[in-house]
Amino acid sequence: MRTDLKQEFVKQYGKEATKTYFSPGRVNLIGEHIDYNGGLVMPCAITFGSCLLVSPNNENVFRFKSLNFNEQAEVPLNSEHKKVGEVWYNYPVGVIAHFLKDGKKLQGIDMLFYGDIPIGSGLSSSASIEVVTAYALNDLFTAGYSRLDLVKLSQAVENKFIGVNCGIMDQFAVAFGEKNKALMLNCDTLDYQAVDSNLGDYLLAIINTNKPRKLAESKYNQRVQECRSALVALKQELDINYLCDIDGATFEKYKHLITDATVQDRAKHVVAENDRVKLAAKALSNNNLTEFGRLMYASHQSLRDLYEVSGIELDTVVNYAKTNPDVAGARMTGAGFGGCAIALVKKDTFDKFSKEVSAYYTDKIGYAPSVYASLIGDGVGILNEVVSSK
Ligand code: GLA
Repeated sequence: MRTDLKQEFVKQYGKEATKTYFSPGRVNLIGEHIDYNGGLVMPCAITFGSCLLVSPNNENVFRFKSLNFNEQAEVPLNSEHKKVGEVWYNYPVGVIAHFLKDGKKLQGIDMLFYGDIPIGSGLSSSASIEVVTAYALNDLFTAGYSRLDLVKLSQAVENKFIGVNCGIMDQFAVAFGEKNKALMLNCDTLDYQAVDSNLGDYLLAIINTNKPRKLAESKYNQRVQECRSALVALKQELDINYLCDIDGATFEKYKHLITDATVQDRAKHVVAENDRVKLAAKALSNNNLTEFGRLMYASHQSLRDLYEVSGIELDTVVNYAKTNPDVAGARMTGAGFGGCAIALVKKDTFDKFSKEVSAYYTDKIGYAPSVYASLIGDGVGILNEVVSSK
């Protein structure tokens, strides 16, 4: 993270920031596209994230500036808060609108954002911005929300203000993340456990395909809709609230109720992925990374063939990984349609992995990926005081 942010704030606003907040991005180890189906997921917060520097003003105006984007805005406190095109500050404006709708008393603030999460990479830069804004407002105006309230509020902003029908995983992970832990989150009950992400001789590599994501939001909403149709069909005979309420064997018995073949494939992925997370949790606690890796590959294949959210770029990374004996497993992470893949790579071979995957990918795709060795960090907090959420 940049060290000159405080000076930048002074340059932009002619006064010092009173506080700095940080919220991370996330990767999901396994459990993809099942959070909105009441499933189990296993995300962790990463050390890339978003910083927000603030200074309250007495002008009843919210000022939004970012070191990542050129667009800036001044939004009066007493105005109608609406989404404007595709600009980045829709996220904090949406959060402010939600606080006001809940009757929270706010005052104007000058804000400066800076993030080092590659934008559109599927590492949850949007959840990170939402949660850092919500956390900051809650702290500055003692609004009284719990951490879980902030998660739900940020998800509601994404669903209702931004228009993406995402589940709760991303906002939860960036708010509750803990250093060197993966979160085993039940997206139905919101019970979670922070489990040691003990990767032994391995590290987690993040490979950003650098593919510009187009139409990702509408395709995402389409998948959510397909899952809803599958659920309606199964409910004709099963008393369930979510697709993840059944296991693979039950699905096989009742899948004929889903008459559309594509919708049936979507549901098959969801049910099998949920079963895989349970196995993956067991494998991780037994330090069986070979099994964990096998489940990652199986997850990717299902997302590619049944859920159809991968693509040539992500598949190329995973195809390379399979040729490398020092990789235990790899898969796309997040929504898909481009974005990032993750791989479990033997620590002492990471440099070789990085060079080889870059060369293989560039040869097939025509431009280079970005490869990082990921560190698992803490959730949202005041910078320099980021403490674990428990
Ligand atoms: C995006 C959404 C999440 C989740 C993942 C797929 O990141 O924001 O809620 O659905 O895709 O697992």
